[in-house]
Amino acid sequence: MAGFIPCYLRLTQDPAIRTKEKFLRATNPILRKIILASTVVAVLSASSAFAKDDAKPLPGESVFKARCVLCHGSDGTANTNLGKQLQARDLHDPAAQKLSDAEIKQLISQGQGNMPPFDGQLSSEEIDQVIKYVRHFAKKK
Ligand code: HEC
Repeated sequence: MAGFIPCYLRLTQDPAIRTKEKFLRATNPILRKIILASTVVAVLSASSAFAKDDAKPLPGESVFKARCVLCHGSDGTANTNLGKQLQARDLHDPAAQKLSDAEIKQLISQGQGNMPPFDGQLSSEEIDQVIKYVRHFAKKK
């Protein structure tokens, strides 16, 4: 330990090391800029990746998956055991798609036939979102 400090002093007086230090001090601001720039790029690409992930699930998808798939199936065709037993409707069907948003909202909150009411279990916003999800079945099967 006693020999360490003089040894260190000798080292820092070494011209080779001093130029190395000068070089590092000079390049530091540049390095900082590079690090900053790459951080910005990383953050931006991360947030755009998040944006892509957010765009993936359609509005109301999570509500539909949690509350409706048991009877209507994840594909909306009502081709599930319970769906068949209760005669749930295929949501691709024009009969379902021709209902207005207000009619579907009424149906979801009050229930109809074998379909239970969701009033009190789903918020008004959640019902609006799940209606949007019901609408996406109009496009594909
Ligand atoms: C317990 C089973 C069950 C669940 C859970 C269920 N439904 Fe239904 N759903 C039915 C049945 C049965 C019908 C047919 C009602 C009737 O006889 O009029 C129906 C009808 C519908 C209709 C009308 C279709 C048409 O052609 O008239 C829509 C829209 C609908 N459901 C959407 C939903 C949504 C959205 C959810 C989730 C929030 C949901 N259902 C949850 C059983 C269910």
